[in-house]
Amino acid sequence: MSFAAKLLKWYHENGRDLPWRTTQDPYIIWLSEIILQQTRVEQGLPYFHRFVEEFPIVTKFAEADEEKVLRLWQGLGYYSRARNMHKAAQMVQNTLGGIFPTVFSEVIRLPGVGEYTAAAIASFSANEPRAVVDGNVYRVLSRYFGVAEPINSTKGKKLFAALADDLLDKQHAGLYNQAIMDFGALQCKPKNPLCGNCVFQLECVAFREDRVEYLPVKTKG
Ligand code: ADE
Repeated sequence: MSFAAKLLKWYHENGRDLPWRTTQDPYIIWLSEIILQQTRVEQGLPYFHRFVEEFPIVTKFAEADEEKVLRLWQGLGYYSRARNMHKAAQMVQNTLGGIFPTVFSEVIRLPGVGEYTAAAIASFSANEPRAVVDGNVYRVLSRYFGVAEPINSTKGKKLFAALADDLLDKQHAGLYNQAIMDFGALQCKPKNPLCGNCVFQLECVAFREDRVEYLPVKTKG
């Protein structure tokens, strides 16, 4: 079985039911991803529900007072993210006719949206074959392939992006991306990873070489 096939099987049996996974609405997915850049899933959930309730469609978000947006964001910190969100919603409203984009090359033009978020939105909403590379993915790939190249070096970023693209199941990009994030969050955890019952035990280089706890490598500074 391929990496992707094993991963999807694992996800089917172990994946979390999260509210943004039952929609293909790129606006709702965008809301969830911006919030989750700032906090963990458990802490992000109530924020997500409040934002969706207040602003069920992007037009409502665009038309809201900035103070209201900032008030809803309170507790998440890093207020520039909330201001960028408001700007992005207004851009969708004013230049895209209120239609939130699903295409990677369009999504990435929105303020506050980088490679990771654009890949998440394009793959979850439209199955565009773009691999997400977040902290979970760096951890899983560095261990699976036994790669000690720092994840925050230019060379490392390129290397991991290439590995992520190679492994991506291009037929099921959205599902695959959700799966690898959950696999990193639940199984291939930063501390005390569950190697004992891992579906990749036989092929994981880090496990075989007893290097799991040393990967991924991140340089200081
Ligand atoms: N963290 C960031 N995005 C996520 C997602 N879509 N599902 C679970 N955890 C996440």
